[in-house]
Amino acid sequence: MALRWDLPALTALLLPLLAPALSAGAGACPCSEAALCRPVRHRRDFEVFVFDVGQKTWKYYDWSQITTVAVFGKYDSELMCYAHSKGARVVLKGDVSLKDIIDPTFRASWIAQKVNLAKMQYMDGINIDIEQEVDCLSPEYEALTALVEETTQRFHHEIQGSQVTFDVAWSPKNIDKRCYNYTGIAGACDFLFVMSYDEQSQIWSECIAAANAPYNQTLTGYSDYIKMGISPKKLIMGVPWYGYDYTCLNLSQDDVCNIEKVPFRGAPCSDAAGLQVPYKVIMKQVNSSVSGSQWNKDQQAPYYNYQTEPGTMAQYSGG
Ligand SMILES: *[C@@H]1O[C@H](CO)[C@@H](O)[C@H](O)[C@H]1NC(C)=O
Ligand SMILES: *[C@@H]1O[C@H](CO)[C@@H](O)[C@H](O)[C@H]1NC(C)=O
Ligand SMILES: *[C@@H]1O[C@H](CO)[C@@H](O)[C@H](O)[C@H]1NC(C)=O
Ligand SMILES: *[C@@H]1O[C@H](CO)[C@@H](O)[C@H](O)[C@H]1NC(C)=O
Repeated sequence: MALRWDLPALTALLLPLLAPALSAGAGACPCSEAALCRPVRHRRDFEVFVFDVGQKTWKYYDWSQITTVAVFGKYDSELMCYAHSKGARVVLKGDVSLKDIIDPTFRASWIAQKVNLAKMQYMDGINIDIEQEVDCLSPEYEALTALVEETTQRFHHEIQGSQVTFDVAWSPKNIDKRCYNYTGIAGACDFLFVMSYDEQSQIWSECIAAANAPYNQTLTGYSDYIKMGISPKKLIMGVPWYGYDYTCLNLSQDDVCNIEKVPFRGAPCSDAAGLQVPYKVIMKQVNSSVSGSQWNKDQQAPYYNYQTEPGTMAQYSGG
């Protein structure tokens, strides 16, 4: 009985969904000039890549430097028009369950859907951000490389000058149990974006607070990518604009902060014991902290200690 009512409602819902997909890119250009809806074509010999997470913070970016903005917040046509006026690309975020993309048909339809969305929104490519666990000898291992190859082919073919990038951990050494074909993926896309942050996601030694991106650890990661045969020109360095706030079980005289053991993907301790805190919050609080801004010489990174409540200390580790 209820079905009779549901059918027209369903059809009404499907039609508007299908219509834009059928005429991808045919919608009215939202920019002040039609030319601003054209994808960016020229390539530069460097990249300054930004992840935009929403609101209007993009109005404060240094647009003389930026080459690509990956939209991880809500799509904003005003941002797209502005970026294009500055010659910067605006790209989609791509994430999909790796179990699903083992099926080549599913993979093809996922890619087609992303290309259509990019065209509809006058965008210039896609940043693939898959941070899922993959076993070295699994079907997902090969499917992931195929996904990147096919996505790049399709985007480059359908949107001239478009860019396809893939996000990788700070090191290729199976961080967070991500056994990916790094050389295959690097060869298949335009750039690897190296996430040189969350470098304490798996702590194998002492369970103590450490920097989000210690200097040596960061450099070791790049050197390992390059040693695999990946060209440094394919690597974009990602730096964090946030730190971690750890509650110390105890804090030693020389500022060693023992943290709670929170296991992650096989490691006994991790940065999951802390909370991520944005740069602007850190900068507001550092001066009123117990220690003021300090510098960890080994990690080449800033930190400070503050009192959360009588008897409890916490440490912000930046980096
Ligand atoms: C990685 O991917 C490349 C390109 O698809 C392929 O030639 C290579 O055999 C793959 N490597 C492994 C270890 O599977
Ligand atoms: C500090 O806490 C850690 C972890 O609970 C413990 O192993 C260590 O003995 C403590 N040190 C002091 C000085 O209390
Ligand atoms: C914190 O202290 C530094 C150095 O004294 C100063 O330059 C900065 O303006 C202060 N920041 C705030 C938010 O008070
Ligand atoms: C960092 O790396 C340099 C060069 O490899 C080395 O000399 C130095 O001891 C390292 N520092 C730390 C704290 O590991």
